[in-house]
Amino acid sequence: MQLDTLEQAFLDGEHGETRQRMMELLVALGKVFGADRMVPIASAQVSGASYKTIGEWGLRWLQGLDARVAVPTVLNPVGMPREGWRELGISPEFAARQNEVLEAYRRLGVRLECTCTPYYLIRVQYGQHLAWAESSAVAYANSVLGARTNREGGPSALAAAIVGRTPFYGLHDVKQRAPALVLDVEAGGDAGPMTTAHYGALGFLAGKHAGNRIPYFRGIRPTREEMKALGAAMAATGAVALFHVEGITPDARIFPYDLTGLERMFLSQKEVAEVLKEGQVDAVALGCPHCGPEDLPQIASFLRGKTVKKPLFIFTAAWVLEKESETVAVIRRSGAQVVADTCMVVSPLMEGYRTVMVDSGKALAYVPSLCGAMARLGTREECLREALAAPAG
Ligand code: F3S
Repeated sequence: MQLDTLEQAFLDGEHGETRQRMMELLVALGKVFGADRMVPIASAQVSGASYKTIGEWGLRWLQGLDARVAVPTVLNPVGMPREGWRELGISPEFAARQNEVLEAYRRLGVRLECTCTPYYLIRVQYGQHLAWAESSAVAYANSVLGARTNREGGPSALAAAIVGRTPFYGLHDVKQRAPALVLDVEAGGDAGPMTTAHYGALGFLAGKHAGNRIPYFRGIRPTREEMKALGAAMAATGAVALFHVEGITPDARIFPYDLTGLERMFLSQKEVAEVLKEGQVDAVALGCPHCGPEDLPQIASFLRGKTVKKPLFIFTAAWVLEKESETVAVIRRSGAQVVADTCMVVSPLMEGYRTVMVDSGKALAYVPSLCGAMARLGTREECLREALAAPAG
């Protein structure tokens, strides 16, 4: 692999042992995937921040590193909110370990913003190279913003953050960003409008079929919010890190892809709507990916002056919670919990419920396997109505 002078100096240990180890990791990764050089990155988002997932070994590894990140770097959701964890029943032992993980990242210069929506925090430009780890954020960065990132693991994203480089392969290379599959969607008509939850359901189905291939959608005109839901679900049921939507996503417009000869799949809105099922619900969870600043006012206006009858959890980033403090107060007066830094999947908060209603195709895929509860998908309004309805029996 061709390395520039600085990269070679990192590798030779001239800038400390941690940078040397990080460079060794990236060179090894690049060799596996056939990269012939490194590329500078503009930002990083690091997963492996919850003590629940990295455990004692991960914590010790982080504590052994001695360098600061070279680019703006944020974290994925952690296992608990940094404020108010006691009230949510998190044990002091777990909280102490989680705080040690956060302290280790703080020492490395990582911003303690724990969110799967880093694109609201970090300005991303078209064509920028990134090293992001959370799958829905990766899908959004590549597809909606036209940035270039592979789906990094926690260690490779942190290594890239520390040396400011990542190996040039996969989705960093424009030639690797062409679609491999055409998905024709029959939306609208008698089936009514496609809501954000419908896009989550579409992603839930499309991801299963696409696997790790790059799909090219036709027949839909999603907003950014809807693409956030679509990409998150496809990254969960498949390993989709980039998708194109005809006439909408930046790379679909720029590159003259030849679609002839590609496999085609047809999905009707009726099939999509069937993913949104009826049934009994014990708790409701919104914010997968994390609610953005535009979501909380919408939820607050629905809940204003009402009282929830079932547990309702709303997950967001700490900066959104702070920015929307008055809105959050309205939501909390209804009895709902607004929780920052963590989520329904990486925290233990959903454990103990039999069926959780969500408005996200990604949560629909992950809640059963990672929280041990059944999941039911509904539109945001249906979810909020369900939270206000008295429990059955
Ligand atoms: Fe984010 Fe957790 Fe969903 S990390 S995308 S809220 S599973």
